Amino acid sequence: MAWIKTPKNWELPNQEITPEDIYLRRREFLSTTLKFSAAAMTLMHPISYSSPLCAEEKKEIPSFDPTPESIASKFNNFYEFGVEKDQLWKSARKLETKNWTIEVGGLVKKSKTLDVETLIQRFPEEERVYRLRCVEAWSVVIPWLGFPLRLLIDQLDPLPSARYVKFTTFLLPNIALAQKNRFWEPWPYTEGLTLEEARHDLTFMATGVYGHPIPNQHGAPIRLIVPWKYGFKSIKSIVRIDFTDKLPATFYTSMSPLEYDFEANVNPDIPYARWHQAFERIPGKEETEKTLLYNGYAKQVASMYS
Ligand code: MTE
Repeated sequence: MAWIKTPKNWELPNQEITPEDIYLRRREFLSTTLKFSAAAMTLMHPISYSSPLCAEEKKEIPSFDPTPESIASKFNNFYEFGVEKDQLWKSARKLETKNWTIEVGGLVKKSKTLDVETLIQRFPEEERVYRLRCVEAWSVVIPWLGFPLRLLIDQLDPLPSARYVKFTTFLLPNIALAQKNRFWEPWPYTEGLTLEEARHDLTFMATGVYGHPIPNQHGAPIRLIVPWKYGFKSIKSIVRIDFTDKLPATFYTSMSPLEYDFEANVNPDIPYARWHQAFERIPGKEETEKTLLYNGYAKQVASMYS
């Protein structure tokens, strides 16, 4: 009898994945990508992109062709360390990620401290190739290693009254200098999801990339990945998880509530105040691509919003 493997809804047909040796050989990160890096923030997201051409010709099926690591690891957002995307891989090195812990509190049976090294051993490691679409209208495809957040939530015993999960990044102004220099911003960086979103099979805790432990600029030692939402929801270097019954305030919704919403699902039809969201640039490539509803994950997530 033939053995039939039912693919999970985040899995890709093998032929859609470019072999590592091919994508690694792709051309190096062009200095031209700087043309869409953020100038100091109005600063964080100051970009006003002109309309890309040839909209009709662009394909609408999602691409899962991984971005070469040499590009994705040197084109980041991590505002705690500044706004120069091509420099964060260096400036974020200052972060010490050994003996990292996560405090768990709020509406849970028992508050606790999780040791991340131990936590990583607790769940089988999975690799997921996910699209990441930044609100700044660029995107990458990254093979993450880690485990579904749902597995962790099940072990944390949230109370029945819990409706949201709030995540918090470290507060270390002597290391992450933007937290000192831009003291008026609502540090530490925080994000949140509904409990239903947090338990969705696509929602992932990443502890590795491209087959190795996650480097600091990508959010070491542990970060969230929510591939159908704008990248700012995918909070890096988490130190706290709280369960709440109220919609949590987040870094962006506190700073600019008219511009950033809590839900932040990728939607090409809803332009942001300062730029459209219909297209996205791919670092290292000249051409833009059409942005897809829910970043190409509509089949898996649309029912949560209907
Ligand atoms: N998490 C923290 N703590 N600080 C940040 O500045 N930037 C977000 C998100 N997570 C950010 C963060 C944004 S805007 C994006 S697009 C993604 O991280 C980028 O992830 P990457 O650099 O790993 O590609």
